[in-house]
Amino acid sequence: MTRYLVTGGCGFIGRHLTATLLEGGHGVTVLDDLSSGNPASLPPAARLEEGCVTDARTLARLAEATDGVFHLAAIASIAAVEADLGRAHAVNAGGAANAVAAATRSRVPLVLISSAAVYGDAGSGAVSETHPCAPLSAYGADKLQGEQHALDAAANGLSAAIVRPFNVYGPGQGADSPYAGVIPSFIAAALSGTPLRIDGDGSQSRDFIFIDDLIRLLSAAMEQRQPGALIVNGCTGTATSVTALAQEIGRICGGDIRIDPGPGRAGGVQCSLGNPGRAEELFGFRARIPLQDGLQHTVTWQRGTAS
Ligand SMILES: NC(=O)c1ccc[n+]([C@@H]2O[C@H](COP(=O)([O-])OP(=O)(O)OC[C@H]3O[C@@H](n4cnc5c(N)ncnc54)[C@H](O)[C@@H]3O)[C@@H](O)[C@H]2O)c1
Repeated sequence: MTRYLVTGGCGFIGRHLTATLLEGGHGVTVLDDLSSGNPASLPPAARLEEGCVTDARTLARLAEATDGVFHLAAIASIAAVEADLGRAHAVNAGGAANAVAAATRSRVPLVLISSAAVYGDAGSGAVSETHPCAPLSAYGADKLQGEQHALDAAANGLSAAIVRPFNVYGPGQGADSPYAGVIPSFIAAALSGTPLRIDGDGSQSRDFIFIDDLIRLLSAAMEQRQPGALIVNGCTGTATSVTALAQEIGRICGGDIRIDPGPGRAGGVQCSLGNPGRAEELFGFRARIPLQDGLQHTVTWQRGTAS
């Protein structure tokens, strides 16, 4: 049986990845400090080790017993990072360095989850992986530093796939955190009959990828591993404005939706859109779930948890 280590496996993406790996007949060990993750929703067949990715020895020990490492653990919201920059740097850049070292030492492949935040404001076109990186946030800068660790180690034999997800959404993404993403926040508001609060005029757009599609990409990146390092976007290639998103969520949730535009968010980019060409070229990967369907699944799940 192939056994994987998933750091951050109690989080939104990590739980889906863990469930998919287990369904595929693989063994999974999860390393998570439970700072934002929920162990209750981890499939029982997963082995949970409670610990921190800043602990290099624990990571190295766990990686030794595996056939591959997925590194997802991070302080994943920009607002949470800004609240404690030192801690975020230790976890997001330092944790990635430890995951790289652990995979290198154990001679197992690494799938490193970075972020589209490394691009910063890349303008209105679909950004490909060769676009220069100019992160606007400490979160993006730490992710970029993590990538660099993987690239350096790949020069010395590590097989590393660096995945840059854009905006991931789907069932299991909490709306109750102060750092909740736009989709769970909009759905929660729509279901409770409160106005959907938009930052700015709502024309800002994002590339929303449904969780099942991203998990297929992560699995392909591990299974079809290549020598050295590669970098690949996790995106759909379709941009949706925040206003269009709010309207679609309103349509799905039914009832009267009041959209309440507010002041713009400082430091946000106007457009974030990925070019999915390289993922298709390398892995034959294409996002399959249209936004309407993904939102429908997500609303159904969120309705179930609210009742
Ligand atoms: N959700 C998105 O839209 C998105 C987009 C781009 C990149 N990403 C990246 O994907 C990864 C997973 O994101 P997510 O949305 O599932 O976030 P999440 O907050 O739901 O999950 C992160 C998990 O990491 C754990 N964790 C945090 N610090 C840790 C530490 N020091 N040691 C061990 N575990 C720790 C948390 O407890 C949690 O279970 C992150 O690296 C994030 O930066 C997410």
